Amino acid sequence: MRTLSFSRLAKSLLLVAGLGVSFVSQAATEIKVAFNQSDKHPQYQALTALSEKLEQQTEGRYKLNIYPNELLGAQRAALELVQNGAIQMAIVANPLVENYNKDFIVIGLPYIYDSLEHQQKVFTSGILDDLFAATGRYGFDVLGAYTAGSRSIYTKGSAVNNLEEMKGKKIRVIQSETMRKMLSCMGGIGVPMNQGEVYTAIQQGVLDGAENNEITYADLKQYEVAPYFSRTKHLMVPDLIVTSSYFIASMPKQDQEVLKRLVKESIDHQFDLWRTQVQQAEELAKANNATFVEVDITPFQQSCSKLQQDLITSPVQKALYEKVIELQ
Ligand code: GCU
Repeated sequence: MRTLSFSRLAKSLLLVAGLGVSFVSQAATEIKVAFNQSDKHPQYQALTALSEKLEQQTEGRYKLNIYPNELLGAQRAALELVQNGAIQMAIVANPLVENYNKDFIVIGLPYIYDSLEHQQKVFTSGILDDLFAATGRYGFDVLGAYTAGSRSIYTKGSAVNNLEEMKGKKIRVIQSETMRKMLSCMGGIGVPMNQGEVYTAIQQGVLDGAENNEITYADLKQYEVAPYFSRTKHLMVPDLIVTSSYFIASMPKQDQEVLKRLVKESIDHQFDLWRTQVQQAEELAKANNATFVEVDITPFQQSCSKLQQDLITSPVQKALYEKVIELQ
């Protein structure tokens, strides 16, 4: 048997050690992010830009790997994966988080924001910091909120112009009690369902329609099954960037701070991307025979104002509501 000379052995060991060191410093820890829409979506793009910065600013220790199109599951399941640490991050709509903490109801109430600018101020002013810090006991932390514009009703058959025409209409909603109640105050029937099932449910007549923003409407080609988009603009539901509490606590303190700061900094960028793309989405839907109908929203607002009062019950909710309104 050939024996290695001492110097060759030492050289080999150094090489292996050297490779090991450079391997450790090069391989970034992958933060898996569940996302339920396509890689063209403004939120996907904002997260991609964030990931590049994260990799630079943690000297290659962390980067995001975003899985679009519900590849890691629909939002409700994705939130559970985040909670038990199976994945590290997700974007989930506010109603799913309000199922854990009722104070979140406030920032997803019908007609609480009067414009995109108002919502942007609310998301970037720091008034939501206490709210976002309150979910750790459920195993996830909320790092920030992205916009998903305003939601309107879209249907097959004919448009809805008023409360009367909403009567008996089965409209898909995100899975929360508030969303169901909101659909009732608008005159229809809310049917909770995962986003990925909506297209087929409308096509098969299980639903008369759904409610969402123009980008999701176009991105998921829902105009093919529900071509009447009635601009009720009843909701501006925040999308929350959530991370596993277990995972974030496992990061070195300085990297945790970088991640938290970069999420906050990405919010204005995401609003800009939204503004650019929302018009394009509408054009795309129109080019595919969708009809956009302007609706008098006053009767809907009046009918839903009681819901706002009914849902805001605790002093914490009231205080938060006041802070949001003050920024109008
Ligand atoms: C919007 C929102 C998503 C949400 C979806 C839905 O697209 O951005 O977070 O999942 O609506 O209605 O389910």
